[in-house]
Amino acid sequence: MIDKVIPLIYLAAAASFILALKWLSAVHTARRGVIVGVVGMALAVGGTLLRPEIVSYRWIAIAFVLGTIIGVPMAMMPMTAVPQRTALSHAFGALAAALVGTAEFYLRTPKLDVFTMSALALEVLLGFLTFTASLMAFGKLQDILPTRPITYRGQNVVNLALLALAVAAGVALVASPARTWLFPAFGAFALVFGVLLIIPIGGADMPTVISLLNSYAGLSACAMGFVLDNRLLIVAGALDGSSGLILSIIMCRAMNRSFANVLFGAFGQVQASAAAAEERIVRSATAEEAAPILGNAGLVIVVPGYGMAVAQAQHKVRELFDVLTKLGVVVKFAIHPVAGRMPGHMNVLLAEADIPYDRLVEMDEVNSDFAQADVALVIGANDVTNPAARHDKSSPIYGMPILDVDKARTVMVIKRSMSPGFAGIDNELYYMDRTLMVFGDAKAVVGNLVKELAAGAAAR
Ligand code: TAP
Repeated sequence: MIDKVIPLIYLAAAASFILALKWLSAVHTARRGVIVGVVGMALAVGGTLLRPEIVSYRWIAIAFVLGTIIGVPMAMMPMTAVPQRTALSHAFGALAAALVGTAEFYLRTPKLDVFTMSALALEVLLGFLTFTASLMAFGKLQDILPTRPITYRGQNVVNLALLALAVAAGVALVASPARTWLFPAFGAFALVFGVLLIIPIGGADMPTVISLLNSYAGLSACAMGFVLDNRLLIVAGALDGSSGLILSIIMCRAMNRSFANVLFGAFGQVQASAAAAEERIVRSATAEEAAPILGNAGLVIVVPGYGMAVAQAQHKVRELFDVLTKLGVVVKFAIHPVAGRMPGHMNVLLAEADIPYDRLVEMDEVNSDFAQADVALVIGANDVTNPAARHDKSSPIYGMPILDVDKARTVMVIKRSMSPGFAGIDNELYYMDRTLMVFGDAKAVVGNLVKELAAGAAAR
């Protein structure tokens, strides 16, 4: 009887995962997506616990308690720490897959057929390398390790040679699983490769790398499904692997960069051009001077970026939205796909501050509106507004699609200094005649703008 029920539970779980991914891809259905994903995972775990091969629940109960003790505080991390939290989850997931593969190898060798051993080798290779690579990514994002890219001559050759060694050991094990002495070396090559893979990548590129590691962890779980003959693992791992890969592709495309450039490009080192910034003229204004320009506008397009996230200014931005709307100003929010440091970063922050979804407009749609905007209000965004991406072939961001804020009648930029953003380059937007810099922390400046506008509105 139970043998007939478990496949049905697995089917319901697999359907839930697919629906979860579908619903997570749109803002207004995302909450539903999270809930159905949780239900799917509960069904998957519950169904697996019913399996007749389980002879004792004692160790499972201990692991459940330990997992809960570690998982609950992890879930409480602040929103800005989501990339590193995700890296830790991948590290644990990948380690679990690699350890299951290792246990299966020693339990079943030499009776492993070529197909199962191939799946097992892939599971262990991807599992171990994702484990150390994800821990390194976590360390870089959490500032435990140096965030700058560390490079040396011949680095790519060394890395590729190590990967080749790991693959060769895997192939030798597939040819003859009885070579058990080779297995520890195989695992060690994968672990060290994971570390070396991340060393040349700068901290700011970690979100893209984490998304790629997500894909590796998923593929490792998928391979584990073949080893254990568990169809749900195959489906869930394949979904995880492909969605991680698709997300990395979307992120790379939005930055106009290739996988190779992210993995081997040592991006994010400050460039010399940033130093030339001081010689040019910049017009700046105080919040008191800037507020009336906003209050008298017909259309204001707010462009949020990484600085808004760092300053946690989203609630003040909501107050600004309210006061401007009360004054009859139409306010829209322009969302660049890679603004901030993780996919959907701006959507999540603005949703947290209860800004209506229909005011968030994606880049392709909003770009034609800038020419009609009285003010483009850039809050802690930099690279995603840099016109050099359109015409300067020597710029590292050349070709990256940007928000056309320079087409607005007035461009108002809130940031603390003339420092560059993620790409380490100067932004020519700041030197335009129509640009006003309002220097300061985003939360403080937007708070001051709100005060000025509210006082002005009360005096009317
Ligand atoms: P950035 O180009 O990184 O610029 C952020 C700006 O915020 C900085 O110039 C900084 O200037 C300012 N800032 C920092 N703290 C601030 C604060 N407390 N108050 C006010 N301003 C503050 O940001 P962006 O325009 O959002 O672009 C994102 C970049 O990250 C892109 O280059 C993108 O390719 C890259 N990236 C994105 C992702 C994803 S998925 N979103 C993943 C990897 C890489 P000051 O220091 O002068 O204040």
